[in-house]
Amino acid sequence: MPSHPNACFRLRAVCVFARFALFVALLVPLAAAAAAADLRALAPEAARLQLAALRAEVAHHDTLYHQKAAPEISDYDYDQLKLRLRALEAAQPEIAKATPAVPEVGDDRSGLFQTYRHRERMMSLDKTYSEADLRAFHARLAKLLGRDDLTYTVEPKFDGFAVSVTYERGKLVRAVTRGNGVEGDDITANALLLRGLPRTLRESAEDGTANAIPETMELRGEIFVSFTEFERINAEREAAGEIKFANPRNLATGTIRQRDAAEVGRRNLEIVFYGIGACVPATAQPSTQRGLHESIRRWGLPGIARTWTARGVGELWAAMQELARARGDFAFPTDGAVAKLDAVALQREVGATEHAPRWAMAYKFAPARAETQVRAIAVQVGRTGVLTPVAEFAPVELAGSTVARASLHNREEVARRDIRVGDFVYVEKAGEIIPAVVGVNVARRPAGAQAFAFPEACPVCRTAVVSRAGEVAVRCPNAACPAQLRRRLEHFASREAVAIDGLGPAMVEALVEKGWVKEAPDLYRLRRADLLTLGKDVGKSTDRLLAAIEASKRAELWRFIYGLGIPQVGAVAAKEAARRYGSLAALAAAGSGEAVAASAASDSAGRAIAAYFLEVRNRATIASLIAAGVRPTAPMAVATGSRLAGKVFVLTGALPSLSRAQAAEKIVAAGGKVATSVSRNTHYVIAGADPGAKLEQARTFGVSILDEAALLRMLQDEEP
Ligand code: IVH
Repeated sequence: MPSHPNACFRLRAVCVFARFALFVALLVPLAAAAAAADLRALAPEAARLQLAALRAEVAHHDTLYHQKAAPEISDYDYDQLKLRLRALEAAQPEIAKATPAVPEVGDDRSGLFQTYRHRERMMSLDKTYSEADLRAFHARLAKLLGRDDLTYTVEPKFDGFAVSVTYERGKLVRAVTRGNGVEGDDITANALLLRGLPRTLRESAEDGTANAIPETMELRGEIFVSFTEFERINAEREAAGEIKFANPRNLATGTIRQRDAAEVGRRNLEIVFYGIGACVPATAQPSTQRGLHESIRRWGLPGIARTWTARGVGELWAAMQELARARGDFAFPTDGAVAKLDAVALQREVGATEHAPRWAMAYKFAPARAETQVRAIAVQVGRTGVLTPVAEFAPVELAGSTVARASLHNREEVARRDIRVGDFVYVEKAGEIIPAVVGVNVARRPAGAQAFAFPEACPVCRTAVVSRAGEVAVRCPNAACPAQLRRRLEHFASREAVAIDGLGPAMVEALVEKGWVKEAPDLYRLRRADLLTLGKDVGKSTDRLLAAIEASKRAELWRFIYGLGIPQVGAVAAKEAARRYGSLAALAAAGSGEAVAASAASDSAGRAIAAYFLEVRNRATIASLIAAGVRPTAPMAVATGSRLAGKVFVLTGALPSLSRAQAAEKIVAAGGKVATSVSRNTHYVIAGADPGAKLEQARTFGVSILDEAALLRMLQDEEP
C-alpha cells in the first residue's frame, strides 16, 4: 500500500487511466498498423503515462492470474491488455527502455513450497487472436528455413496449470510448476495424487516391443480439471455456502497448490503431456513432435487424444479451425490451438526468443461475447445475510445457451465498474461456463442513467445493512430476516445436509410466510392439519413430507452439523467435528469456556465451531433439536480414541495396495491429518517404493517411518 497520500492518488489515477486504456483496447480493436502509427505519434509525456498505467495494470492482473488464481477480468481482456502494452513498447522503444518492464512470463511461485530449478527453462508461448498473425508466424519460419512446405502438429491448448515432471530411469522423481520459468514450486507430493500420473514408465509397448526410455527427461504438460468435475465441486461448494470457482483453471490452480494433500486427493485433477524439456541423452529425444506424442502414449503417460498434422499455412489454418469446431465436444477446457513445427531439427534451427520458442504459436479463441441491456440490478440475500447484486439483462444467446443474469459479486464491484440500470454491457462466459459482465459500453449509456445506489437496508426485512472491517461483503445483520431464514432452511433440508425430500424453495417459502417455521427445529413440530391448509389435494404430498422430516431425525451427526450452516464449516469440517464431538449435546458444549480454550490451539474449523456455540441462541437451537426428538446416527467409532487422532502423516513413494488418495482418505477418516512435506510436526512418514527425499527428511527430523502394513494396523487401532 502506498503510504504517501499523493502516491495513493497517483496509483489510483494510474489505475483509472489504465482502465480507460483497457476500455479503448476493448472497444476499438484498431487495425494494427493504424494503431501502431497512433502509438508512435503519442507525445512523450502521454506515452510515459500510458506505459506506466498499462504496466501497473498488467502487473496487477499478473499477480491475480498467476499467484492468486483469482482474476478480475476475463482471459481475453487480460491478453488484450498485454498485447496493447507490447504494442506501445514496440512503438515507443526509448520510453519503454527508460522505465522498468513487467517481466514477460508471469511468476506462479507461491512461497508455500520448496522451489526447484528446471534443468531446461520452461518457456511461454507466443499467442495471438488473429489469422493474420498466424500467417505471419508461418511466413517468418518459411523465411528463416528457406522453404514454405513446413509440417506442423496442431494440438489443443489446455486451459490449466503448466507442470514439468521429471522421470529418471523411468521413475517419477519430481513435479515442478513453471514458476518464473527458471525455477518453480516443487509440487511432487500433490502431483502424486493425480490418478492418471504413472510413477513408472512402461518399458515395453502393448505390442510387446521394447520402449526406449531416456535416462532423464523433463516432460512438460498441463494439470487440468474436466468440466464435469468442475461442476461437481462447484455444486458441493455452493451447498456448503463456499465461494465457487470462476472457471476450471482456477480450480486446478487452487487445488494443486493446496498444502492439504487430502483435499487434493478429493478433487479429480487430470494431467496431459505435450512437450519435453531436458532429455539425457539428447539422442533419445523423439525427432518430431508427432513422435513425441507417440512415445508419451507408449510410455503409458496421458497424452493428447487428438492432434492434427498440417503441411503449409493453408492446411495449418484449416486444422486450427477444425480444432475450434471439435473443441465443443472436448470434456476438458481449452482456450486455443497450438501450432508446433513438427521436426525437432527445424525447431532447433529457429530457436527461441527471450521468453518463447520461435517454432510454436498459440492461436487463442476469442470468447463468446454479446452486448445486452441491463434491465435491473437485483440484490439477493444469502444464508449468512450477505447481499449479492445480480444484473438482470435482456436475454442473449451465448455459446449455445440463453443468459439473462450474472452476478456482480458485491457492492464494491458494482461501484468500481459503475454498472447502471439501462447500461449496455458486454457479457461473456467466463471459462465458457459462467456468464459474467466484462465491460460497459459507456458510449450507449442512456441519458439520465443513475449510478447504482446499493441498498442501505436489507431489501427483504429492511434492517440497516452492515459491513465488517476489512470485508467487502455487505450484510443484513438480522438473523431473523425471512430471506436468510429461507436460505438456512433450504440448506438444512438439502440433500447434502439432513436430506428432507419435498422441502424445496416453494415449500420453505410457504412455511416461513405462514410463520410456522422460524428455525430448523420448528420443522420437527409441523402439524399435519396446518400443512393440509396449504392447498387442495395436498394430502399425499403432506404425508410424504412429514415422513421425510421424521426420517431426517436419524440423519448422521455430521449432516446436522453441516446443515446448521456454521460459517467456514463445510462437509469435510463437519465430518471431522462429528468424530471429535460424537453427539449434538457435546457439540453445543463446544461453546463452553473450557472447550473453547482447548480448541483454540487446534484448526480453524474447530475455532469456528467454538465461536458459533458461544452464542446462546445457537446452543438453544441444538437444545430444541434434541427436544424435538432428533437423534443423529452415531459417528463411526473412531474419533478421539483412535491412534491416528490428531497425528500428522506424510505419504511418500508408491504403497503396495492403496493409492495415495485412498491412504490419505483413510487417515483423515480416522481423525489424522495428511501433510505434503516433512517437518518437526510430522508424526509418521508412510513410505512405499521409491520414496524420494522425504525419507531422508524423516530421518533428519527423527520422524517414525512406517510402511503400508503398519498404517493398516493403526487404522485397525492396533499397534503399528
Ligand atoms: S507448449 C515451449 N502445448 O499454454 C512451449 N503449451 O500460454 C511450451 N499449454 O505454458 C508450451 N496446452 O501451460 C504447449 N498443447 C500445448 C499446450 C500448452 C496448454 C499451456 C502451457 C504454456 C501456456 C502458454
